[in-house]
Amino acid sequence: MDLNNQTRQYVLKMLQLDHKRLNDYFVQFDQSYLPAHKKSFAMTALNELAVHAHLEEEIFYPYVKTAKPSVAVLIDRSVRQHASIDSLIRTLDLDGDPDLFEKQFLELADKIKDHIRFEELQIFVQLADVDLGAIGPVLDKRRDDLMKRESAGNEHQFTPQTNLYASEDQQKSA
Ligand SMILES: [Fe+2]
Ligand SMILES: [Fe+2]
Repeated sequence: MDLNNQTRQYVLKMLQLDHKRLNDYFVQFDQSYLPAHKKSFAMTALNELAVHAHLEEEIFYPYVKTAKPSVAVLIDRSVRQHASIDSLIRTLDLDGDPDLFEKQFLELADKIKDHIRFEELQIFVQLADVDLGAIGPVLDKRRDDLMKRESAGNEHQFTPQTNLYASEDQQKSA
């Protein structure tokens, strides 16, 4: 693969790595016995999902829609899937009955896995001819900013972290 092609592919690889990490957390959640461990894998997964969804909605989706209008309808479907995942997240009760939480989280994980498959199999495969190189550094920078915000001490504030689509100001005041 030449350097140009590598730069092009970097963005898709990075998003796929995020997907893989999420899927790994779901497996670890499933394989844990202690409710505290399950809770911790769930929170890690949801925090990473929040960052990932921000990157997609703020940078990746709009860029792809402009660069390849034929996939716009799929991107819109993806955004609706994010919204429906987000409303499921809002119904989670981390501190409630562990069995109920497990059932709810597994249902949520299935929905996220479906969404990941949708993105990879319906959208990413259509982007071989789209030059994504330009947004690589933008995504990296934005990820750094979002991670810093997350590590600024609010990792246990479940609701604001999972409020994927609130503006930053809303999130800061939450
Ligand atoms: Fe997504
Ligand atoms: Fe994604």
